[in-house]
Amino acid sequence: MKRIGVLTSGGDAPGMNAAVRAVVRMAVYHHLEVIGVMRGYAGLIEGDFRPLSVSAVGDIIHRGGTVLRTARSEEFMVPQGRRAAMEQMHRADMEGLVVIGGDGSFRGAVHLSHLGMPVVGVPGTIDNDIAGTDFTIGFDTAVNTVVDAINKIRDTATSHERVFLVEVMGRRSGAIALMAGIAGGAESILIPEVPVNLDEVVTKIERGRARGKLHSIILVAEGVGSALEIGKGIERRTGLDTRVTILGHIQRGGTPTAFDRMLASRMGSRAVELLMEGATGQMVGIQAQDIVAVDMEEALKEQKRIDYDIYRLAGILAI
Ligand code: F6P
Repeated sequence: MKRIGVLTSGGDAPGMNAAVRAVVRMAVYHHLEVIGVMRGYAGLIEGDFRPLSVSAVGDIIHRGGTVLRTARSEEFMVPQGRRAAMEQMHRADMEGLVVIGGDGSFRGAVHLSHLGMPVVGVPGTIDNDIAGTDFTIGFDTAVNTVVDAINKIRDTATSHERVFLVEVMGRRSGAIALMAGIAGGAESILIPEVPVNLDEVVTKIERGRARGKLHSIILVAEGVGSALEIGKGIERRTGLDTRVTILGHIQRGGTPTAFDRMLASRMGSRAVELLMEGATGQMVGIQAQDIVAVDMEEALKEQKRIDYDIYRLAGILAI
């Protein structure tokens, strides 16, 4: 193997740059050349390639976003687009590809691997919704961003004695809401994996008021539904003043935490080693502190479950 490619695809996640850096540096260490593919699969189809040297990935370990840019490519969803991508890779003498992204990106990676291109995936998404790995790159940073926001919201919530709903990302996954909810001391955490029980939310608010609590913070994962609507429902039932903060894409940016940089460094380097060992259709993961390789198709078949013990703990601590 002499030359490999690397791309970032789907929603960006803090730490993706650290992963790109690790891919390039580990590859160069092993005398491989690296081609950076711009804008994910869209750039792969168009042949939007740039050689990446050791210095090209200098000064990016601390930066959020992705220097390779990213996209969600419609064209790549159809066989014709994927064949065009294969041609571009052959033309550039690419013998392997590292795909940094989430589940959608991995589905694309599996297709390429079936077409004969060795591909290894590195899980990068703030959602932490990929089976086969305890953590995905970007999740820790996003959780810390949310906790920082909750700390600030708590100040004003207390001053005004208000109920605050904080909507966080996660269409299908309540991972960010759950982790940030516990770390931020939220009173209720509403996630798509568990049916919403508004009675319970209202009871908690009223119980808190009865013991002199001045504020209530409720975390809502976006997959549950509109936090604005839930807020109106609470207002109607309690007569309390509610406010809603939708954190949105703030969660996707910012300097990655040390945890995400470490994870990205370990995962990116291992991806290169796996390609050199002849792996394809594999994904790098972390399980109980160890970096492992798991079959990408198997991981995609599984729905990552939230930890219900942690969910129950959240309820107990917010008693
Ligand atoms: O998958 C990452 C994610 O940030 C989700 O949490 C969110 O639902 C979605 O991407 C938002 O996508 P877009 O960037 O297209 O608005």
